Amino acid sequence: MPRIIYPLSEPSTGLFENNPDKTSIEHFKFFHADEGKPLATPWQVALSRAIMLREYQLPEGIILDCACGSGIQISAYSEILKRPIVGVELNENRARASAVNFRTVFTERGDNSLDRLQDSIIVVGDGRNGAEIMSTIASKGLQNQQVAFLHLDPARPRNSRAHALSEMAPRLDEVFAGWKPYLATGKTGPAILLDLSPRLSASQMLEVEDLVEEFWPNTNKTWTWTSRGRGRVDRLALWLGPIAEQNKIRRFVRIPPDPTRTPFIMLGGAPITVIDEATKEPRVTAQRGIYASVIDSALVESGLADDWLETLSFGTDYAWAEAKGRRPVIYHSQPIVNNSSEIGNLVVTTGRIIDLINFDLTIETVDNFVEICLEHDINKVTIRAGLDPDIQPKIQGSLDRQLARRHGSRKAFLLRNSNEENYLLCVTN
Ligand SMILES: C[S@@+](CC[C@H](N)C(=O)[O-])C[C@H]1O[C@@H](n2cnc3c(N)ncnc32)[C@H](O)[C@@H]1O
Repeated sequence: MPRIIYPLSEPSTGLFENNPDKTSIEHFKFFHADEGKPLATPWQVALSRAIMLREYQLPEGIILDCACGSGIQISAYSEILKRPIVGVELNENRARASAVNFRTVFTERGDNSLDRLQDSIIVVGDGRNGAEIMSTIASKGLQNQQVAFLHLDPARPRNSRAHALSEMAPRLDEVFAGWKPYLATGKTGPAILLDLSPRLSASQMLEVEDLVEEFWPNTNKTWTWTSRGRGRVDRLALWLGPIAEQNKIRRFVRIPPDPTRTPFIMLGGAPITVIDEATKEPRVTAQRGIYASVIDSALVESGLADDWLETLSFGTDYAWAEAKGRRPVIYHSQPIVNNSSEIGNLVVTTGRIIDLINFDLTIETVDNFVEICLEHDINKVTIRAGLDPDIQPKIQGSLDRQLARRHGSRKAFLLRNSNEENYLLCVTN
């Protein structure tokens, strides 16, 4: 029989992994157990997701995380929704860590109405077994309640770039089957948030959609890519039912570096397809005088880059030079007017092409690059090209040292796209 742990009273004795969460402005220190730290949701991500969830009308009932790990996400939901929670975790020490972390968040954020703390529970048990969990928590006065919202962040194989859906623990189909009878289900389906790997392929995303359809036909679905910057997708989640947007398949959430600022959120996009042409194919080649801009690769991955770019001053007057990968690039004839912080976050760099350099950038040729930069009055040039990572810092260091000693006044970057022979020298000011 599963065991209930109470955040109100669970001691932290015997829990050894106690780590600061660097993303929290509150400087939370969270317990993890049995190497649970890499599995835990960063506080800033958990909090911004809970704030987004608050925008939707959830039915009455239980807020449930059926694989709650260290309890970071479930604590954030409780904080923002001001509702008690039920967490379920197979690993007993992690379940205990969840209970202690819940209390930490509750007390350090200054809530003193004890009800929410008293009514929240963590169950050590199998999060696939809805019937068993529901009968365990019946003693807490929850016997006639349905689950208002189900969160699932399954563990996935470590150290592997790709994994099958069947390798998630717990598995989505088993959780759906185990909880279906207990979920409050309205016209648009039950409120479920599946927190999945950003490495899922488009065909795996479609597999997940099919699985959802099997259990709840015609449920609303919104895929959500969350990024904390540096072009990285931190989370890919599927929001379902009343917490999804009607006919809005994709959402991009950029959490700003300053945690006190609200995230940038964009909705729209085309349905997921296996040949997921997130962006248009290259149409133009580089030439002097036009502009080249490196676009945030997480935005491009979400398939919403074109929707966003078309809201900028140049409208549709741009072309993709590099549509995929770590450094997506567009060419355009008008400059980007930088009048909002989104532009600063979503355009990695932008500049006017002033030269095309048709030889390689190596330790041997770096002096020639310096000469070209000096001809263009440049005193700092940043390499934005996929050079060998062992050599790039040396070449960058040499460019920096040599240019700093001279009298240029402009800043620039060097770009090389995969379909271009030349390096593009672009000035930013
Ligand atoms: C990725 S972690 C969840 C992290 C969590 N979102 C947080 O914020 O800390 C997934 C957890 O699922 C747990 N798990 C795996 N199979 C389970 C099952 N059948 N029932 C309950 N928990 C399970 C693992 O022990 C792991 O701690």
